[in-house]
Amino acid sequence: MEHEYIVQSGTKEERYSNLLPQLAAIIEGEHDTIANMANISACLHETFRFWWTGFYRVIGSELVLGPFQGPMACTRIHYGRGVCGTAWKRGETIIVPDVNLFPGHIACSSASRSEIVIPLRHEDEIWGVLDIDSERLNNFDHVDRVWLERIAALLCGSGCGIQ
Ligand code: SME
Repeated sequence: MEHEYIVQSGTKEERYSNLLPQLAAIIEGEHDTIANMANISACLHETFRFWWTGFYRVIGSELVLGPFQGPMACTRIHYGRGVCGTAWKRGETIIVPDVNLFPGHIACSSASRSEIVIPLRHEDEIWGVLDIDSERLNNFDHVDRVWLERIAALLCGSGCGIQ
């Protein structure tokens, strides 16, 4: 596979707008959700050189670690716990500019300074989250939110949950 989809220069908007159609093309040709989560985490991670980029899936009352790029992470997160469990409970994207100021933040890695979590929704049900950590404080803003929500919606378009 060619790797022209990885553009590590330009503005954040340029990089996301380059990446989105390419991820859409990859996902369109593949119905397996785990495979698509794996490629999305790889492409995002390589494009933006985040600290940790990955997915958790809702299984019962917990989020369970799914495909990711970066260091080893916590495997299970309860509903309402940490940034991930809170995003699941609230049903909305959460941007944390400084993880040390988020009550209940779960520190899988002490290097993580800021974080964004996007719920993955199918119809009205949340079936997982996309979680991204940065080593830099205040790394995520509305631009990340908008583009990552678009990327999350692509995944749902391929058939949500596990097939
Ligand atoms: N910090 C997250 C836990 C997951 S790791 O960052 C990969 C949280 O508070 O939910």
